[in-house]
Amino acid sequence: MDSHDSKIIEKCTESYNLVLVFCLILFTVWYYMHCKKQVIVRWPVLGMLPWIIINAHRIHDWTVDISKIFGGTVIERGPFFGRLEIVYTCDPRNAKYILATNYYNFNDRQDYRDAFDILGDGLLTATSNFWTAQRRAARMTFTSKIVRNIIFHKGTKVTQHALLPLLSHLSKESSGVDLQDVLMSFPPNELAEAMDNASEAILFRHVLPISWWKLSRRLKIGSNEKKLEAAGKIIDRNIAEYIKVKREEMVAKGSKADKYEENDLLEVYMSIKDGEKDELMLAKMLTDKFFRDTCITFLIAARDTTASTLSWFFWMILKNPSVEAKILEELELIISKKNTMEKNPVIFDADDQTGMVYLHAALCESLRLYPAVPLLRKTSTSDDVFPDGTVIWPGMTVIISCYAMGRMEWVWGEDCLEFKPERWISEDGKLNPEALSKLVSFSLGPRNCVGKDMAFVLMKLVASAVIYNYHVEVLEGQNIVPTPAITLKMMNGLMVRVRGRVFP
Ligand code: HEM
Repeated sequence: MDSHDSKIIEKCTESYNLVLVFCLILFTVWYYMHCKKQVIVRWPVLGMLPWIIINAHRIHDWTVDISKIFGGTVIERGPFFGRLEIVYTCDPRNAKYILATNYYNFNDRQDYRDAFDILGDGLLTATSNFWTAQRRAARMTFTSKIVRNIIFHKGTKVTQHALLPLLSHLSKESSGVDLQDVLMSFPPNELAEAMDNASEAILFRHVLPISWWKLSRRLKIGSNEKKLEAAGKIIDRNIAEYIKVKREEMVAKGSKADKYEENDLLEVYMSIKDGEKDELMLAKMLTDKFFRDTCITFLIAARDTTASTLSWFFWMILKNPSVEAKILEELELIISKKNTMEKNPVIFDADDQTGMVYLHAALCESLRLYPAVPLLRKTSTSDDVFPDGTVIWPGMTVIISCYAMGRMEWVWGEDCLEFKPERWISEDGKLNPEALSKLVSFSLGPRNCVGKDMAFVLMKLVASAVIYNYHVEVLEGQNIVPTPAITLKMMNGLMVRVRGRVFP
């Protein structure tokens, strides 16, 4: 073959490639236009992957659309060359079965650990004996009265010395502020930003074929994996510094180390007595690596969830002024029963929280409509059948949408989209245990949330102080939608104006 022939072949190949690309673009445009209004479209070869990508920006609302059209449970496939068989459900009977009744068939954490590799061997991702040992330590920590006091004390200090003074300052300004930013961490810092980026990137690992994102990580291609790697480095640097400072502080405190008021959660964890740790795991639980994994796990598990729940809660009560009025009434009743003089600003103490039934119900109602962990992901290990009759085979990715579950008429009734704290309260005025058992936002079974009680204590502390002392108004013209991430944050934040309350 002479050089003239090879030039002709080269030209032909180029034209052929151009035609192929052009046809592909035409096909994609046609397919997209044609199927735009459909909730799920299964593509030849690629399965439902393109539709996941197309709907990625509104993935949580998409789960609601899917559930409304296809019912509580759907089985879908990714591309035939990638391992992705998804069983998606928002049926509460299935959720209870997966998370509690037949938990052992859905407890294979390998895929979950891979997706959350940034958490290392922390409580969320640990398996077998190391998980049992950590869970035991965490339960002992969180149920201890001393630790509860520390956390309440710490929460009160932050509310009193940081949050309320900031709101007081803002109440004198006419400009608005992003309440979600205030609740997440203010001012925004590089650690908070890195955690947000990591949270968004991890969501996509849940819905893409595992081999895809692993390849993209290895080859260092694709913005998602790059974003996660960069976020991981920032998180590691910040946490290493924090642990170093904590160790130095503890050495300096020496025998006064159990002066609990000054401690924080990491210090409590570092000071767990040897006898309280699982003997076999002791060595593993003393390393900086363990403290690093525990720190990042609790930051992700506790900070984002409580702050985002509070943001959605405020958005809901601002949209429903009658709910805000009832919460205020409840708080005024608590104050009126106290003999002490009111301080300004008012902060409610731990004992006051027993009287906050309506506020507790309003937080549950927020968590129903805006569960901080909108999707729960599990993997099946053997053949099974869900309570609704869906047949399951080993290795399937099981996705439970708590977000869609809270929005189904057949679960919550015709008023499912309305914000009604009353649905959590029984006729005797107490919290309704039957309704509470339907709340999956903290998950169920052996791996449910260890921080649930603490989360309610902190959220009631902050919500009562803000609502009693300030009136918050939402600025007009905002588009309040969830961001596609593992925790349900508001994509564009929540711009508000704050005014001090004037009491008669
Ligand atoms: C409104 C606030 C919160 C919500 C909605 C929430 C929700 C959840 C959910 C759904 C899970 C299960 C996750 C899964 O299986 O993928 C979970 C686990 C966990 N949560 Fe929370 N959480 C909240 C606050 C907290 C707080 C304040 C802490 C700690 C102080 C915490 C610590 C944990 C830990 C360590 C786990 C892992 C438990 C295990 O795997 O054994 N959470 N949480």
